[in-house]
This record gives sequence, structure tokens and C-alpha cells, in this order.
Amino acid sequence: MAGADAAVLAEVVRSQVETHARFGGVVPELAGRRHIESIDEVVREALARAGVGVRDLGAVAVTGGPGLIGALLVGVSYGKALAYSLGIPLIPVNHLEGHLSAAWLGAARLAPPFVALVASGGHTNLYHVKERGEPALLGRTLDDAAGEAFDKAAKMLGLGYPGGPVIDRLAREGDPDKAPFPRPYPTCEDLNFSFSGIKTALLYHLRDREAAGRSWHVPDVAAGFQQAIVEVLVAKTLAAAGRAGVRDVVVTGGVAANSQLRALFEARGKDAGITVHIPPLRYCTDNGAMIAAAGARLLQDGRAATLAFEPRADWAIGD
Ligand code: KG4
Ligand code: ZN
Repeated sequence: MAGADAAVLAEVVRSQVETHARFGGVVPELAGRRHIESIDEVVREALARAGVGVRDLGAVAVTGGPGLIGALLVGVSYGKALAYSLGIPLIPVNHLEGHLSAAWLGAARLAPPFVALVASGGHTNLYHVKERGEPALLGRTLDDAAGEAFDKAAKMLGLGYPGGPVIDRLAREGDPDKAPFPRPYPTCEDLNFSFSGIKTALLYHLRDREAAGRSWHVPDVAAGFQQAIVEVLVAKTLAAAGRAGVRDVVVTGGVAANSQLRALFEARGKDAGITVHIPPLRYCTDNGAMIAAAGARLLQDGRAATLAFEPRADWAIGD
């Protein structure tokens, strides 16, 4: 995995947060339908902003998985049609490889080997990205993803969906020591993660207080909860870097937008003599530019697919 030079000409992100917010999470059927409604408009808008026509395109990169099959089918069908009609290559991109490629968008010049943490709503994966070949999986969550823990906690606290941004904001006004949470699965001997227990800890925390007729200060709870998750993500990732003998770490995925996570990675990284690369916020959460960046590199490697390609809901890399 080498850093292909990728310049972003235009970027358009169409969020579905409003569609799903009132249900407290993503509704798969609605996600697929909203994709159908939006995809053509989003592509046209991106081309218009970039000032290029479809005939200027050299290839079409599209997310091939993992993810919700209904949404993947829409993107892959559209990508196939576009590539076929223009007579250009179709490049299916693994969503997680897309998140990893976000490291090359923005300022940082970076070259493998490095260790990467991809923490999103569906994944918490640690990879060793070597000079050549597929990223090797070092650890992953055994149950809930880190972003999922934030989302479920916010739901319990009545803060809406998605939970990460609102907990991040409230935590800044809270005191984590007033609502301490046990660090979830903290041992660095094992580079896997587990975030389902901390959700239960939060449930008991709120239930005990309610039973005792006590209230709770939501910012304190948000701060304590966030700190426990952030500490573990930082500690395990830096331990993985130490063990792999690399000096660079990449942190990406929606959870990498978290302000405390960014600050703590920076500080602890400095202490350990490790450079931590975190893409700009807009490239941490889901975006098309990261898929295009991964696609550009795959194109250089001659990794085009035929029209027989089918999206894969559970497409893993390095596993
Ligand atoms: O990568 P992403 O945009 O989509 C997936 O591939 O899942 O990640 C979304 C996840 C959600 O769980 C959301 O709560 C979390 O990223 N997230 C955050 C923050 N912003 C988004 N988690 C913690 N702090 C944030 N500031
Ligand atoms: Zn994602």
C-alpha cells in the first residue's frame, strides 16, 4: 500500500442522519432507498463542482463492502452502469481500505510501514500496514464497535443519534472523575477490543442512581464514558505500534473525529516518539474522497473488476 498522489477536485457528502435519527439508528431498508434517490444527484454535483464531464473520467471507484447490502447494491449497480457506458475500469474498494486511504488526503506525507486504527460505527480494527501487500489485522472488537458504544450510550442518555458528536460536545463541560467508568478490556497483551460491557456499566450507573432517587449530570457521565473508551483505544494502538516497531500511527474512521481522542493520541504519541496522523475531520467520517483515493492506488496496481463483481456485505481485509 503506497501513497498514490491524490488531489481532491470536489467532494460531496449526502448525510442520511436526519432520515434515521428519529428511529435512533440506521434503518437498512431506508438507507437503501435514500441511496437510490441521492446517488445520481451526488455524482452530478461532484462533477459540476470539479468542472469535469463524465467523459473526462478515467475509472469509477465504488465501495464494494463491507456494509449494508441494500446500500452497497445501489452504489455498485450505479458504478457498473457508469463504467460500462463510458468504457472505463470499475474499481471496487473495501470500505475499511477506504478509511485507511484517508491518511493520504490532507497534508500529511506518509509511507508504510505504520499501524492504523479504524474506529467507526461498525468497526474497531487495528492493522499493521506493511510496505507491500494487504494490511494485516492485529486486533478488532469482539462485540460492539467503539462508535456503536457512543451511539448506544447517547440513546440511553436520551441524546439522539449519532451519539459520538453529542457526547464529545457534552464531555467538554463534564468532569470524568465524577462519573468514572472501568476501562473496557484494557489489557495490551491482547489487541482485541470489547465495548459491550461499558454499555452495561452505563445502564447500571443510571439505574442505581435512579433507584437511589439521585439524578445525574449528563456532561459528567459523557466525560467519564468517553474517557474510558478513548484511553483504551489510545493505549492499545500505541502498544501495537511499539510491538510492530513502527514510528507512525494512522487513526481514522468516524470515531477519529473525537476531540479527546485526537488530543490524547497526540500527547501520548509524542511521549512514545511516535507520529500520529489523523486525517482532517471530514475525511475521518464516511466520505467519497477516501474511496477515490483507495481506487486510484488500486487502478495503478491494475486491480479493476469485471461487471460480474458482486458487493460483499462482510468483505474483510487482512483477516
Ligand atoms: O466512519 P463513520 O462515519 O461511518 C461508519 O462507517 O460507521 O463512523 C460513524 C461513527 C458513529 O458511530 C458516530 O457516533 C461516530 O462515528 N462518531 C464519533 C464522533 N463523530 C462521529 N464518535 C466519537 N466522537 C465523535 N466526535
Ligand atoms: Zn465508515
